[in-house]
Amino acid sequence: VPVEPFEIVVFGGTGDLARRKLIPSLYHRFCDGQIPPQSRIIGASRSELDRDGYLKLIRDSYIEFAGQKGFSETKWKSFCKLIDYATVDVTKDNDWGGLGEKLDKSESLIRVFYLAMPPALFSDICNGLQKAGLAHKQSRVVLEKPLGRDFKSADAINEAVGRVFSEKRIYRIDHFLGKETVQNLLVLRFGNVLLEPLWNRDSIEHIEITVAEDIGAGGRGAYYDKSGALRDMVQNHLLQLLCLTMMEPPGSTDADDLRLEKIKVLRALAPITPANVKQKTVRGQYVKGKVDGASVPDYLTDVEIEESTAETYVAINAEVNNWRWAGVPIYIRTGKRMKSRRSEIIVQFKPVPHSVFGPDIKVNPNKLVIRLQPDEAVNLWMEIKEPGAGGLRLKTLPLNLSYADNFTVRYPDAYERLLMDVVRGRLSLFMRRDEVEAAWRWCDGILEAWDEVDQSVAYYPAGSDGPEEAKRMLARQDDVWSEN
Ligand code: BG6
Repeated sequence: VPVEPFEIVVFGGTGDLARRKLIPSLYHRFCDGQIPPQSRIIGASRSELDRDGYLKLIRDSYIEFAGQKGFSETKWKSFCKLIDYATVDVTKDNDWGGLGEKLDKSESLIRVFYLAMPPALFSDICNGLQKAGLAHKQSRVVLEKPLGRDFKSADAINEAVGRVFSEKRIYRIDHFLGKETVQNLLVLRFGNVLLEPLWNRDSIEHIEITVAEDIGAGGRGAYYDKSGALRDMVQNHLLQLLCLTMMEPPGSTDADDLRLEKIKVLRALAPITPANVKQKTVRGQYVKGKVDGASVPDYLTDVEIEESTAETYVAINAEVNNWRWAGVPIYIRTGKRMKSRRSEIIVQFKPVPHSVFGPDIKVNPNKLVIRLQPDEAVNLWMEIKEPGAGGLRLKTLPLNLSYADNFTVRYPDAYERLLMDVVRGRLSLFMRRDEVEAAWRWCDGILEAWDEVDQSVAYYPAGSDGPEEAKRMLARQDDVWSEN
């Protein structure tokens, strides 16, 4: 279904995110017939480019990142008719005229400002838009992560943006929420009657959330080294996965119903303190190793820095202190340069209360594996009688719901869905201010505790499962991380 005609200004229009994700996403939706031809896409940045220069830049980037597959010269040409470019130095008050000229004077189009720039500039951009009279009543702003580097800076950003845009016009993006399989978490949990009665401390032994990447931090060292895995991945993506897995059923999927339930989970997270941080968290950094048989350098070489204590891996033994989840360990981990790219949520059920098969036959507990990427799937591991003579043998096998076996449609990139949701005015997949701030408060506790106890990084070879310390952390609770 096409959206209403809109105009979108992408600040950071020549940057990595715009070239790699935002413009290609808009192009795909245009090809799918969802973007009306009256719409306008305006790249904005400091670079002194003209429209032709910008069109060349984004075309070259599309081919570099996405290749020729799915690229149609004719469609690209029509898509380009929507595109324009404005040079703006957002730190200067008097530099907004050029952008203003490009915007719809009648103000009849939905107006979206996408801030794909460092958050330190969000305040300047919003003030600039206001002073130049460009932020009219119907306009919306999209804030790209990182939204600050702690609660205080996030609060300051939210204050500054909030002075120009009301909360209902602020779209704080977490692109994980745009992923098909992440949205499926809601359907899996609330579209099936089977899971809910078991979805609690009585039946669940522990939950694991893993977002493993095989790529390194090279190419974005300047940002990454100041951030580290906790700020880069846990504060946003992993906590969002945790919320969707653990929240109470919302009344509906309306933005406030959904976000309220997520906030309750964030607020119930047991604080991590200097007294328990060493038992409950592991920080890691990769050293050289092999990923997929190819030698790769250590983190310091990747980011071209001589010394660094930034974590490229973090594992946390978390707990959600509420009636449903008290006492259930939630193990979360994420790392760069791990063995393979793999994001999944594993729900480990408790063993049967009593085995009727006697002491010699092992009955494995059930396990639900929700594979978010790649090889999207939901597997429910069950005990089955192995057929054949020779006595009773149990086998653990999955009920396998593989996306590849069931669906042939193209999975839209997360940004496609989210960008269209901004135009449609749907806030459900965006974070509310108090949600981001609650996530920061919990992460700040960990950051401060790390600082106070001077928690060092444990080294792990690139291409491994992460540091041994993370295995020991689970072993202390008689648990092990699930293997690939
Ligand atoms: C980004 C992080 O938000 O998410 C990156 O800054 C990370 O460090 C990326 O690589 C992972 O996203 P995806 O969609 O590739 O799983």
